[in-house]
Amino acid sequence: MIIDQHQRIHSYLRISLIERCNLRCTYCMPEEGIPLLPKSHIMQNEEIVGISKEYVKLGVTKIRLTGGEPLMRKGLDDILEGLQALNVDLGMTTNAILLDKHWDLLKRTGCTKINISLDSLVAEKMNALSRRNKFDIIMKNILETIKRGFEVKINVVLLKGTNDNEIVDFIEWGRHLPITVRFIEFMPFSGNKWDWKENGVSLQDVLSKATTHFGKDEIERVEDAPNDVSKNYRIKGSIGKFAVIATVSNPFCDTCNRMRLTADGKMKNCLFSKSETDVLKAFRAGEDIQKVIRDGVWNKKDVRAGMTNFEDFSDPAQNQENRSMIRIGG
Ligand code: GTP
Ligand code: 5AD
Ligand code: SF4
Repeated sequence: MIIDQHQRIHSYLRISLIERCNLRCTYCMPEEGIPLLPKSHIMQNEEIVGISKEYVKLGVTKIRLTGGEPLMRKGLDDILEGLQALNVDLGMTTNAILLDKHWDLLKRTGCTKINISLDSLVAEKMNALSRRNKFDIIMKNILETIKRGFEVKINVVLLKGTNDNEIVDFIEWGRHLPITVRFIEFMPFSGNKWDWKENGVSLQDVLSKATTHFGKDEIERVEDAPNDVSKNYRIKGSIGKFAVIATVSNPFCDTCNRMRLTADGKMKNCLFSKSETDVLKAFRAGEDIQKVIRDGVWNKKDVRAGMTNFEDFSDPAQNQENRSMIRIGG
């Protein structure tokens, strides 16, 4: 078991496969880009599978692949086949651009929990936000992925004055599809110009917009899955759900079961942790990585890497000590 000092058992591993991405979303990537690490620093396919195997021995039951954009990773088929043999729940978080080239591989290897980033239903806006003209292929691939029976969640990072006027449109769009549309409170990472007063949209803002439009009695709270990061809702009578991931206004750290492995094999015991544990280095040196993993998680802070209250979390001196989001993978 991988447990921390707050009695949280960790059974969910998120692995970033690559630091590169085929989009340039403003909230994720610093304007100046990121210096890419030399290839030798990045985990090789067999290292990803070998390290994952040790996590599984310690009780991991769910692995989600992230990026950058994970579908750009060379050798993805080898990685997925290796992970499939570990008998865990497999998922991926992607921007959908390359999904049409991977449906068969994903289905065959059981990687069926697909979370997709989509920040606007308006082509020009989505293209401006992501600095690339990919809206049409993204939308086509999302609809086809749903049709093919994958378990799809849509991730919408909310930015005031940019896409908060689409909250009702997103709920309307999603309620007729077998998906969950999750609105995400904008979070601070290195180089992403986070300013909550200026561009934050909270759980409360989402609920008040939904209530004004649909009416209070039409919105029902849906039970959250264990260890879910989102609070889930449904417009009565709909197939689709909507949800809010409220890391800023209502952190959910008390039920956290997550660990992260960056593409260069460093473990982050929290999305916001400044310190990292070099699992890859230990693995390459033939050390007992189970001990390295356990020790790394044991020291995890109770809430948001120690940024317990809103003031600490908003303080650039504390929240900028982390990597940029593209180098963490969410
Ligand atoms: P499932 O629960 O498997 O559906 O996926 P997920 O929500 O863990 O993963 P996804 O990659 O889709 O992440 C969606 C959003 O939730 C991103 O903005 C992540 O940064 C955020 N998120 C995911 N895991 C955590 C976490 O452990 N803590 C916090 N604070 N946010 C998280
Ligand atoms: N705040 C909140 N969510 C973010 N994501 C990327 N950057 C941020 C941020 N600053 C989301 C993406 C993706 C997921 C992995 O993380 O939308 O869906
Ligand atoms: Fe877990 Fe850190 Fe996210 Fe809280 S902020 S839920 S402790 S990863």
